Amino acid sequence: MKKNGDRVRLKEGVVNSIYYYKSGNFAPMVYNFNAGPGILPPAVLEQASQAVLDFNGSGFSLLEIGHREAPFVAVMEEARALVKELMQLQSNREVLFLQGGATMQFMQVPMNLLGEDGVAAYTDTGTWSSKAIKEAKVFGHVDVVASEKENGYTSMPASVPCSDTSAYLHITTNETIAGTQWQQIPYQQQVPLVADMSSDVFSRQLDFNRFGLIYAGAQKNTGPAGVTMVVVDPDILGKVQRNIPSILDYRLHIKEGSMLNTPPVFAVYVVLLTLRWLKNEGGVQVMEQRNQQKSDLLYNTIASIPMFHLPVAPHSRSKMNVVFTMKDPELEKRFMQQCKDAGIVGIKGHRSVGGFRASLYNALPLSHVQVLVDVLRDFAQKNG
Ligand SMILES: Cc1ncc(COP(=O)(O)O)c(C=O)c1O
Repeated sequence: MKKNGDRVRLKEGVVNSIYYYKSGNFAPMVYNFNAGPGILPPAVLEQASQAVLDFNGSGFSLLEIGHREAPFVAVMEEARALVKELMQLQSNREVLFLQGGATMQFMQVPMNLLGEDGVAAYTDTGTWSSKAIKEAKVFGHVDVVASEKENGYTSMPASVPCSDTSAYLHITTNETIAGTQWQQIPYQQQVPLVADMSSDVFSRQLDFNRFGLIYAGAQKNTGPAGVTMVVVDPDILGKVQRNIPSILDYRLHIKEGSMLNTPPVFAVYVVLLTLRWLKNEGGVQVMEQRNQQKSDLLYNTIASIPMFHLPVAPHSRSKMNVVFTMKDPELEKRFMQQCKDAGIVGIKGHRSVGGFRASLYNALPLSHVQVLVDVLRDFAQKNG
């Protein structure tokens, strides 16, 4: 006889299938709203865990296979091809899987694209773009062409006056901490557009061919931490004079097919599983529809409850990271406790901004947003 709160595994051997029993029903143990590393599809976790024990029936663990052996070379090739397919990239675009996180891209981008006497245009839209700006200044001149600092990073710039002589224009498409997102991408005619898409890549349809370089740490929509995806137009490379260390030279990584040194084998494999899942679900178009539905539900609910506040301007609100606060901070602890009791995790705002943040990455189902919405309404009713 099951009691309320009993842990039950609904399907033997399936990751993320631990549910708890509640009055005749089963509910998942956790609803994962983490900002990153964030939620991954259960099927991906399941297949990844199997590959650790026996990779494709080879009798070896994926962790024991040489990266230059055929089974892993096939993984790398399929992952690259799927990125191209899902983003509908032109054939000349190169897809790389590198290490060092998006943070390394903050310096690798200017090292490869910004000459000592050159000027790169940057938009300052939050914590992540500020970090990118700081690193670029090590390599050349930076022109901050639009900044939202004065507004406390609660909106995205209305215009981007970028000079045609800039080496490139850098944007952060989604500011994970501030909860802002570029709705209209400031595509350029003359200047390569470089984008940090760490927290919204594959979440919406964009004209990915209009970017000179895209980088994204995988640990939100693309897979696990430990690998960073780079999509680059090779025509923008090789234009700076400086000596670039091999491990930081995009051209060498292209030449070696992301195997200049040992790649993060396991992380690349989980990226492949995530990309396969993405394709099976219907691709980026379907993700965009789902993310619109999820974020509409959450924003509309929060906006309808007077005790909560949405600090971000409506036209700049992120569909990936929904940031909200309480008008009476005294109630925050109680709200956190109610979330915890409902199995909601990862809802606490970033330590630099406080409040709350619900991340709605691709793998998060609408039903989980509904759970949060029910908690918000219930809390308001009891404490309003
Ligand atoms: C938009 C954005 N850029 C960069 C980073 C840094 O990524 P990493 O930790 O992979 O260096 C993050 C991390 O959350 C991010 O959200």
